[in-house]
Amino acid sequence: MEVAATALNRADLMQRQGFYPPPPGASEIIGLECSGTIAEIADGVTGWSVGDQVCCLLAGGGYAEQVLVPAGQLLPIPAGLSLVEAASLPEVACTVWSNVFDIGALRDGETFLVHGGAGGIGTMAIQAVRALRPASRVLCTAGSPAKLARCRELGAHAAISYKDEDFVARSKEESDGRGVDVLLDNMGAKYLARNLDALALDGRLVIIGLQGGAKAEINLGAMLPRRLSVHATTLRGRPKEQKARVVAGTRAELWPAIAAGRIRPVIDCVLPLDDVASAHRSVEESSHVGKVVLTVR
Ligand SMILES: NC(=O)c1ccc[n+]([C@@H]2O[C@H](COP(=O)([O-])OP(=O)(O)OC[C@H]3O[C@@H](n4cnc5c(N)ncnc54)[C@H](OP(=O)(O)O)[C@@H]3O)[C@@H](O)[C@H]2O)c1
Repeated sequence: MEVAATALNRADLMQRQGFYPPPPGASEIIGLECSGTIAEIADGVTGWSVGDQVCCLLAGGGYAEQVLVPAGQLLPIPAGLSLVEAASLPEVACTVWSNVFDIGALRDGETFLVHGGAGGIGTMAIQAVRALRPASRVLCTAGSPAKLARCRELGAHAAISYKDEDFVARSKEESDGRGVDVLLDNMGAKYLARNLDALALDGRLVIIGLQGGAKAEINLGAMLPRRLSVHATTLRGRPKEQKARVVAGTRAELWPAIAAGRIRPVIDCVLPLDDVASAHRSVEESSHVGKVVLTVR
């Protein structure tokens, strides 16, 4: 595939620093998603043609002019979006579908909380839950008044400052004392105890990031009577058959909402690939809202 644009993910910063090597067999080049045009197709692949404009989920290799993609990881460009906009979608859409709707099994009417509501994952999660589970209550945390306001604009019923407020107490207040049914967490160890406190009976904590460390103690005695579950998972290292299943689920459930304009790409800025260093700096400083996109050609 000839790459038109790619987008940053927090994992790219870790890979650049040597902490997140690509899974075996994946490209050493950074980049977990891109958009572009199919240039060649392997024998036996059906459903796609040379010249099709697509976007895709990658295990690596997105910051490049050309990329080799398993057919099961391709997605069409949603109606009404440009190639550049579509480059911002695959990683966050697939991560949110997989962790909130598939693993977390969020049901309509349940309460959902995402930490880092103004980030790439957070901006997608808020909109996706509003679109697919319209009776659900959507809570999020963020670090500044401007980001909290942006989360509310995107559809969060309550945006909680992780710096100035107690998210456990606020989650209970916002759910008539029940707590959160599905909590999507980027912080890991630092928030583990508080995340479990914030859960409702039968609540599901889905940990997808370790921004607050990897090791913590867990009080199983507090979990058993409340029937809590903890899931911890990454998308990148999964076998391609599992990724194809996630991509198919994302296409079936999120793509129609994107095409209908009920979920919009949230793009902080679009920079040429040559400016990749300043793009990484802006994600490192968390000065962005949503996604940072790089144009390749
Ligand atoms: N497991 C997987 O398959 C998978 C896939 C994709 C992403 N991820 C993970 O998901 C997380 C988000 O990724 P992303 O690409 O969306 O990154 P991002 O855009 O850089 O977002 C990171 C978010 O972390 C928030 N944050 C920082 N400190 C916080 C704290 N103390 N409490 C709550 N939130 C805090 C930031 O909030 P403010 O900016 O408001 O400070 C920001 O919204 C990362 O940890 C990433 O590694 C995992």
